[in-house]
Amino acid sequence: MNTYITTPIYYASGSPHLGHAYTTLLADAYGRYLKLRGNKVLLLTGTDEHGQKIERTAAAKGVDVGTFVDQISQDFEALWRDLKVDIDIFQRTTDLAHAKVVLTFWQRLKANGDLYIGDYSGLYCVECEQYFTTGTHCPTHKIELEKFAERCWFFRLSRYQEDLIDYIEAHDEFIVPVQRRNEVLSFLKLNQLRDLAVSRGSTSWGIPVPGDESQVLYVWVDALVTYLSGLEVAAPDVASHQTSVWWKSAHHFIGKDILIFHAVYWPALLWSAGYQLPASLVVNGWLTVESEKISKSRPATVIDPRELEAKVGIDGLRHYLFSRVGLGQDLDFSFDQVVEVANADLANNIGNFVSRMVGLVEKYEGGVLTASAGGASRNLGPELATLVENTIVEAYGHLDNYEFAKASRVVVSFSSELNAWLQKKQPWKLDNAEIRRDILWQGCLALRTLSILLIPFTPDIALKIQQGLGLPDNPSWSDLYTEVDGFKTDLPVPVFKRVEVSKIDGMT
Ligand code: MSP
Repeated sequence: MNTYITTPIYYASGSPHLGHAYTTLLADAYGRYLKLRGNKVLLLTGTDEHGQKIERTAAAKGVDVGTFVDQISQDFEALWRDLKVDIDIFQRTTDLAHAKVVLTFWQRLKANGDLYIGDYSGLYCVECEQYFTTGTHCPTHKIELEKFAERCWFFRLSRYQEDLIDYIEAHDEFIVPVQRRNEVLSFLKLNQLRDLAVSRGSTSWGIPVPGDESQVLYVWVDALVTYLSGLEVAAPDVASHQTSVWWKSAHHFIGKDILIFHAVYWPALLWSAGYQLPASLVVNGWLTVESEKISKSRPATVIDPRELEAKVGIDGLRHYLFSRVGLGQDLDFSFDQVVEVANADLANNIGNFVSRMVGLVEKYEGGVLTASAGGASRNLGPELATLVENTIVEAYGHLDNYEFAKASRVVVSFSSELNAWLQKKQPWKLDNAEIRRDILWQGCLALRTLSILLIPFTPDIALKIQQGLGLPDNPSWSDLYTEVDGFKTDLPVPVFKRVEVSKIDGMT
């Protein structure tokens, strides 16, 4: 199966922060999980580089806007590479190839009779690049809304209201989790949709409207089409029918702040341009600091993912973000908690089982354990076999439902159970070498399972375990069931170093 996974295209208006990393890492974990299950995955991320906010930010810094976005875009890409995000496509909205796809998209909207010229007058939040009809301040950024009136192009969004309600009601899986789906349905049922202003005359930093060069495209239309342009750039040879194989399987990972753009504007635009809808919108809650959303516009809330990674490692950072809350709920960041879960789950629990197993194989078998040696059976005995099977079914079941925290908890408790099993078996107290060897064999098999289950969450630890057991890199789901000839232990223990720091830049 093919699956196309996207993150939002982040604004190139400032450096990436932990909130951006949260969505990107969830998308990465899901992609790694699907790859493990044998799916072909394309993961797209990128930067949203046009619009008034970016034009103003660059001007305030006295930097040429092109140079400014180049720099920020590189920052984002470098961060994702450093955090080992498995990116296949990094798409920028200032790429010419993207502009070409946007222009074709615009022509399709026009050919469908959905674009017309009109006068817009209303309110705007430059930080979200969003129109508002009421209020004085942006509910997300808390900044004052700006009044503006101008001539622009409109998209007949109002035409699609009923179709949107019908589609979302008929497709449970389109918006997850369910409370976000309900939120969109109430929005659509309680508000009369107005047509959407889709071009701007007051900024020139954007893609010019075909045939009306006084206007540039509204930055959100430009940005949403990135999901299509990235795919066309990545897979140019499959432009028509095969692109749709990917497109139908698209999963947009987004934060709850951009839900309406993706659940209302985007489907209507896609229908108008003759596309099918993506498979689903997977909506995460906010990371907050003292209950305030982490946001560039509130510098006190900003946490630099690199700084956190330097203190707790990529796996420490990932484990915290995946394990604390269910999809869609907000998570109030606490560095103490990051350290606490990293030490408890990764260093003490998982790390402990790995070092005990490797230590025992080193001590009693000189680091080499073969299936035939001393009659050790190749397969797991009934006790561990049931535990392993239940764990796989449960963990993967949760991942199929984007329940990252539940899946992560299942994997961590699997490790606890393995520690308890080893403690009960006490192979170090046995005189019979054959029975002891069999226990070590079973423990190593279970450790292999643990390492495969950890791939979506903590890929570095997973890899260290596989290398430490002498197993081939990049195992897949089916390797959970393949027979192993032997284990050759070689582990630079520990797989996760205990974190001893207790502060991150004054934040506790
Ligand atoms: N450029 C638009 C998206 C266009 S997608 C076609 C945009 N960019 S953004 O830089 O503001 O990033 C928004 C996304 O970053 C959110 O939807 C969310 O996925 C992620 N997050 C940013 N801050 C966040 C938190 N504090 N917490 C969780 N996610 C956050 O909007």
